[in-house]
Amino acid sequence: MKNLLSIEQLSATEIEEILHSAAGRKKNRGSELAMPLKGQTWALLFAKSSTRTRVSFEVGIRELGGDVMFLNANDIQLGRGEPIKDTARVLGRMIHGAIIRTFAQQDIEDFAQYSGIPTINALTDQEHPCQILADIFTFQEKRGSIVGKVVTFVGDGACNVPASWVFAAAKLGFELRIAAPSKYQPSPELLKRAGGKIVCTSDLKAAAAGADILYTDVWVSMGKESESAERIRDLSGYQINGDLIKLAKSDALVMHCLPAYRGKEIDEATFEANAETIFDEAENRLHVQKAILALVSK
Ligand code: CP
Ligand code: NVA
Repeated sequence: MKNLLSIEQLSATEIEEILHSAAGRKKNRGSELAMPLKGQTWALLFAKSSTRTRVSFEVGIRELGGDVMFLNANDIQLGRGEPIKDTARVLGRMIHGAIIRTFAQQDIEDFAQYSGIPTINALTDQEHPCQILADIFTFQEKRGSIVGKVVTFVGDGACNVPASWVFAAAKLGFELRIAAPSKYQPSPELLKRAGGKIVCTSDLKAAAAGADILYTDVWVSMGKESESAERIRDLSGYQINGDLIKLAKSDALVMHCLPAYRGKEIDEATFEANAETIFDEAENRLHVQKAILALVSK
C-alpha cells in the first residue's frame, strides 16, 4: 500500500492490518525498535486548520525516526496558484512522503500521482480516512469487534466524516444509520458506490434505537462557513444529548471526531460524560497514523 487516500480505496485486509499494527504501537509506545522513517523527511501540506491531525502526524513521524516540516498551503506558491501537479513534482524530488489536508479529493489523487511519493489524506471535503480508522480502533479497544454492530451518525451526514463511515461499513460489515435532514444525507451515488447496510433517515429516534455507537461531527465543516446560519437552523435537533442516549444500547459509546461545539451537535453534559472515549479517539489518531506511516513507507 503506497498511499492512503480514502477508505473507499482500502481493502478490509488493509484496514485490519492497520488496526492490528496500531494496537501493538500503542502498547509499545516509547520502546519501539524499528524506525521505518529514519533518514526521511516528510511534509504536512495543509490548506485547512488542524489541531489533532497536525500534532499526531508530527509526533508520529518523529517517533518513527523521521523529520517533518509543516507547510501551510497559503505560505507556499500553491496558495498563489501554482498547480498541485507542479508542487507535487517539486516535493517528490526532495521529500519522502506527504500528508495533505485540503478541499478537493482530486488534489490529493493528483499529488500522489505526480509526486510519486507516499501520500496520506489528512482530510478532504470527500473523506477523513485517518479519523474513521482511529474511531473504529477506539470502539474495538473498548467493546470488541465492530462487525455486526450498529453505528448511528447524527448531524451533517453529507460531509467527509460520515462518507468515510459509509465506506467503512461496507468493508467491515456493520450497520450504519445516518440521521439527518434529507438535504444533509450522503448522495445516492456515493451510497451506491459503497454498498453495504446503510440506512439514511430524518427520523433521529428510530436511527438511535439500539445503537452501539452514537457519533457526531460539526454541523459546519471547514469551507462551509458561509452556510453557518442555514446549517444551524436546518440541523438544530440533530443533537446527541441525554434523551437520545436513552434510546441507544445501555453500553453504547458516544463518539465525536472533534472539535466539538457544545449546544449544537452535542450538549455539554453529554460531551463531558463521554470525554474519556472522545479523547481516547483523539489520542488513537497517533497510534493508528503511525501504523499507516509504517505501512505506506514499506
Ligand atoms: N478530528 C480532526 O481531524 O481534528 P483536527 O481538525 O484538529 O485535525
Ligand atoms: N467535518 C469536519 C471534520 C473536522 C475534523 C470538517 O471538515 O470541518
